[in-house]
This record gives sequence, C-alpha cells and structure tokens, in this order.
Amino acid sequence: MKVLVIGGGGREHALSWKIAQSGGVEQVYCTPGNAGMAMEASCIPGDILDPREMASLAETLGVSFTVVGPEAPLVAGVVDEFEARGLPVVGPSQAAAQLEGSKVFAKLFLNECNIPTAPFAVVESVSEIDAHIGRFGFPVALKADGLAAGKGVVIARDEAEAREQARKMLSGQLVGGAGRRLLVERFLRGREVSFIVLSDGERYFEYPATQDHKAAFDNDEGPNTGGMGAYCDDGIVSDDLRRQIVATVVEPALAGMRRRGQVFRGFLYCGLMIGGEGLQVLEFNVRMGDPETQPLMYRLNGDFAGLLHGAARKSLDSTLVGVDRGPTACVVMASQGYPGSYRKGFAIGGLREAEAAGAKVFHAGTQLSRGVPVSAGGRVLGVTARGADLQSALDNAYAAVEKIHFEGARRRGDIGRKGLEREKREKVKVLG
Ligand code: AMP
Ligand code: GLY
Repeated sequence: MKVLVIGGGGREHALSWKIAQSGGVEQVYCTPGNAGMAMEASCIPGDILDPREMASLAETLGVSFTVVGPEAPLVAGVVDEFEARGLPVVGPSQAAAQLEGSKVFAKLFLNECNIPTAPFAVVESVSEIDAHIGRFGFPVALKADGLAAGKGVVIARDEAEAREQARKMLSGQLVGGAGRRLLVERFLRGREVSFIVLSDGERYFEYPATQDHKAAFDNDEGPNTGGMGAYCDDGIVSDDLRRQIVATVVEPALAGMRRRGQVFRGFLYCGLMIGGEGLQVLEFNVRMGDPETQPLMYRLNGDFAGLLHGAARKSLDSTLVGVDRGPTACVVMASQGYPGSYRKGFAIGGLREAEAAGAKVFHAGTQLSRGVPVSAGGRVLGVTARGADLQSALDNAYAAVEKIHFEGARRRGDIGRKGLEREKREKVKVLG
C-alpha cells in the first residue's frame, strides 16, 4: 500500500516515519516534506492549501489513503475535495474543521454540548471593548477568532494591556484578518494536558495524554511558541481523569458534531486545563499536536497505517495499535530568535551521532541544501527518546540533543520537569 502525508513539519515527519513501519506499506509520499522526510520517504513539492492539486496528486500517485497533517489545508477544504472524488483521507471536512478554524464557533459549540470551558464574551468591534473587557477580571485571555499559527492568544495582565491588545487584534495589526472577531475569556489556572483521539465519526482511538511546553524559555517564561517540547507518560492523567475526559469532553463533542450534521472524522485534539475549576477545555484542534505527535508516535506499537486506513474508510479498528510501557520525550531545537524573527540556512551536524545514541531526530523546519540538511524554520528538530521512566526518557533525549549542532541552536532545559515534580509529590504522598 502507498500512503500520502500532507505537510512538512515535525508532526508530519513523525507520522510518516510511523506509517512506514507498518508491514503493508511499501511507499510513503510527503508533500512538501522536509529534509528528514526526504531521507526516509519520497517528497513532492506542492501547494498544500490547494484542495484540487492535493486530490489530483493522491490520484496520480495511486495511494490507498492520505493523511492531512496541519490545520490550514483542512480549513481550506482539502478533505471535502478528496471525499467528492471518493479518495480515502484522514481529516475532518471544512465544516468540522471550524472547531479549530473559528474559536467563536468552538466556544458556542462547547456551551451547546455542556462541555466545561471558561466563561467568555465575543467582541466584534472596538466600540464593544468597554462592555466586555473587565467582565472576567485580570489577567484575562484574548483570543483571535481565526487561524493565527499559534500567535492568536494573548494573556493580558491588566485592563490597560487588555484594551491595547484587543484594539490591536481588532484592527488587524496583531494577527491580520484572524483577529477581526475576538474572544475575551476568563483566565484559568492549572496544568495543561493535550488529549487526542482519532475518530472515524463513530468509533475512536484514544492516544495516551501528553504535555506540551508552549513558552519559549525555561520556567514557562517568554512568549508562546508552537511548542518547545513534549512528553508522553501515563502519570499525566490518572485512569479516573482519563475516563472523565472521555465522558465529559470526547464523547459529547463527537456526538454534538454528528447531531449538527458536521460529523467529525480525523484527529480531535482537546487542549485541557486541569485545575481548581476542575476539567476545562481551552481549545480544540482538528489535527495532531506538534510537538506532541513526536513522543506519541515514538511510543506506539502495532499497525499504525492500518489504524489510519480504517479511519479513512470509516471502519476504525483501535485494537491494531498499542502503547509501549516506557515514557517518551521530545526536546525541540529551535533557531535563535524564534518565535520572533530568526536566520536560517545553517548546516546541521551531529544527526547521525544523536541517533546512534538511541534517539530519533524528527525534522521540522529543515531542508536539504546540496545534500546537507540546513535549518529552514523556527522549530528545527524534535529530538525524541524513550526510557524505562520519565527521568531516563528525558536524560536520553537531552544526551542526543548535546550531539547536534547548528548556529544559534536553542532549546529549553526543563522539558518534563513538571512531570518529574508530580512524580516526586506522588511518591511523598504514598510514603506519607
Ligand atoms: P489556545 O490556542 O486556545 O490553546 O491558547 C494558547 C495557550 O494560551 C494555551 O495553551 C494556554 O497556555 C493559554 N490559554 C488559553 N486560554 C487560556 C485561559 N482561558 N486561561 C489561561 N490560559 C489560557
Ligand atoms: N503543540 C500545540 C499544538 O499543536 O497546538
């Protein structure tokens, strides 16, 4: 069987790497791919936001199914075009992708389904700022309605900052057209968990929970990024909490979308806050997380391509895939300056040594320049490893990071620290 993966980031490298391990897969194609994918699969240039081009590519290649990695092609309607041509595809329709494409849609949907989420107001013009900005106290979360590549959320500390940021968003200065409508939302405290399921519309496969690290610097300081590292460990959610997430978020959301006639097929990423106010949904994404996918793929066993093929044919069989016992961790190596402006084109060395040390290096923003991998984006690599416990998974990932060099390479030094602290607290509780 041949498979096409749409996208060219760390998530898509991890997906295509895992797909290639399935017995029935003879060839994986990626469009546009990156240097890491080019070394393992067959990369084809293409405009992933053009549904007709993507569907024609799948037809020409004769693939058994296609997986759409990023949100933008989903929101652009790539899946609708595939379905119109009868081509099997993993991902939601344009209508279902609104769960990520419009934060206002998602919040109204959450309320409609009685899924817990922070109270909010919708602001559509500067003249409405006064009426809503102070309703939920401070700090407060301001969120652009549309897709903003991870830059659409601002946490404003006080009223003056909130007013200024709201004005900037509405005027298009901050995130362009994506901010023409915005949400003002009560600030929630707690720990963030990423919980992802793959659904064929009815059945679903639950991935183990993961934890991302969104801030640019250690101790969660600095601006938000797409994610500087993630780990996957059974301690992130207890079995009880997991059941609660499924019963109060996953099942009502999938049922709610069916009821609306916007059946959700594909990856539903539930961004959760777990804290004093219990379990709350921060956001939905309609794709796998990046970098969450890297430790997730590294921890799965079994026939992942078979799982996806079933989802694409609306007959998902979640028994095809299992989860290894040992935790996994991914440390992102980024360009100096990311998430702001940064330089690229720097040669990357030490990749082989890092993998010889037992890690898997998933590429994100890389490309081949005369056969040599060079940096080509903000997040460059996701260095991923496993261990018998979380500490050793992290140690192994950081040991591999040390082998890799490119000019300006930067990483957080505290990926997984919250998980280790939680383990320590739980041990104290058991001993006490
Ligand atoms: P989102 O894209 O909605 O997940 O927001 C991006 C990040 O902003 C989240 O991962 C949180 O760290 C933070 N965030 C979003 N909404 C809230 C909220 N209501 N309270 C606190 N933090 C939030
Ligand atoms: N890592 C966060 C996301 O994929 O949205």
